[in-house]
Amino acid sequence: MPDMKVEVPIEDDVLLKVDHLCQYFGPMKAVDDVSFTVKKGEVFGLVGESGCGKTTTGRSIIKLYDITSGSVYFKGVRVCAGKKSFYDAIREARKEFREKSRDASPEEKAALKAKMDAIIAEQQENIKKADYDNKNCDKEYIEKLRAAAEEKYRPLIDSAATAEEKARLTREYRNELRKASKTKLITKIQMIFQDPIASLDPRMTVREIISEGLLIQGEKDQKVIEQKVYEMLELVGLVREHASRYPHEFSGGQRQRIGVARSIIMNPDMIIADEPVSALDVSIQAQVINLLNDLREKFGLTILFIAHNLSVVKYFSDRIGVMYYGKLVELAPSDELFLNPLHPYTRSLLSAIPLPDPLYEKTRQRVTYNPLAEHDYSVDKPSLREVKPGHFVMCNQAEFDRYMAILK
Ligand SMILES: Nc1ncnc2c1ncn2[C@@H]1O[C@H](COP(=O)(O)OP(=O)(O)O)[C@@H](O)[C@H]1O
Ligand SMILES: [Mg+2]
Repeated sequence: MPDMKVEVPIEDDVLLKVDHLCQYFGPMKAVDDVSFTVKKGEVFGLVGESGCGKTTTGRSIIKLYDITSGSVYFKGVRVCAGKKSFYDAIREARKEFREKSRDASPEEKAALKAKMDAIIAEQQENIKKADYDNKNCDKEYIEKLRAAAEEKYRPLIDSAATAEEKARLTREYRNELRKASKTKLITKIQMIFQDPIASLDPRMTVREIISEGLLIQGEKDQKVIEQKVYEMLELVGLVREHASRYPHEFSGGQRQRIGVARSIIMNPDMIIADEPVSALDVSIQAQVINLLNDLREKFGLTILFIAHNLSVVKYFSDRIGVMYYGKLVELAPSDELFLNPLHPYTRSLLSAIPLPDPLYEKTRQRVTYNPLAEHDYSVDKPSLREVKPGHFVMCNQAEFDRYMAILK
């Protein structure tokens, strides 16, 4: 069936943009200034050891936190906006004024005050915008959808050949507008969790678990719900008879399939799969990955795939971001990352991957990453720099020069 859906066009096909995201829990900087984009239809792997901030990144994207700083854009709409950086800028401006105006002449002081006031006004505007976007992202998206529907149907209706045609198109147009007004943008991102036991309520039947999202969305027709649940079960490789059973009656792999069904029923554009196979036997892992891959092709899904080691994401991801202690330290297309890993932490992760080659395995050396020994950031601080089109590494100037020499 051709896709007749009304869609809001997005720039450069970027479905998700994470922009200087910070999520702090008190002094713990779980995610610290992380930026990346995920293109429509892409699998983006996010990798790093336990505790480095992967889950927090995922949970921030779906608005489970009021993020500390930065922004998240989905389908071109800012869905999350943190405010700490704005408050910091105001504090900084006040401090600068205090320090510089101490020995200043009255004229200089007036100029300094004007400068401070301008900064404060600008940041207060930013804070207001952030509050607005956090609250109104659905409204903003609905407006865009309605505009897209109008753009699509207006000319069709105006140039309809017959009265019947005109009436039919008008009905379709009204229906699109009605559907648009009910859209909840963030439900278009669904998260699949690591632990298929803890993430399924043991007192709910599989039917209740899978259909929960539909009910929340306002679906009331039991027939429609039942049909959808059966459809989802079959889609993920289970059978209708499973609908009346409880999670504990299933194996780990089957439970994860239930988790997948629960998210796919929401007709998402994007799945955040948070270590979806880490808790499963190796033999089952490939099955669940294959299922995700099939669904991705079938529905044109975009996937943010979180894992703690590189072997799982290697073949599955188009691009990979490597996280270490809340920071993104390297970002590159998969092939490039495996061919030219530059950051010492990425190299250490790679050295942990066993290969089915006995000779290689005999000589494989695990490289451990010791940041204090690797980097001297006492003077020149690191930032994420592009060493090659699409390949970014967290480094300072000296490291950048060294990486460029390696790539030559
Ligand atoms: N709700 C929370 N409150 C306080 N600290 C948290 C919270 N969630 C996560 N953290 C801390 O933030 C860091 C990153 O956690 P997490 O995102 O779960 O890492 P990962 O998914 O990569 O294992 C960890 O040190 C964790 O203890
Ligand atoms: Mg996690």
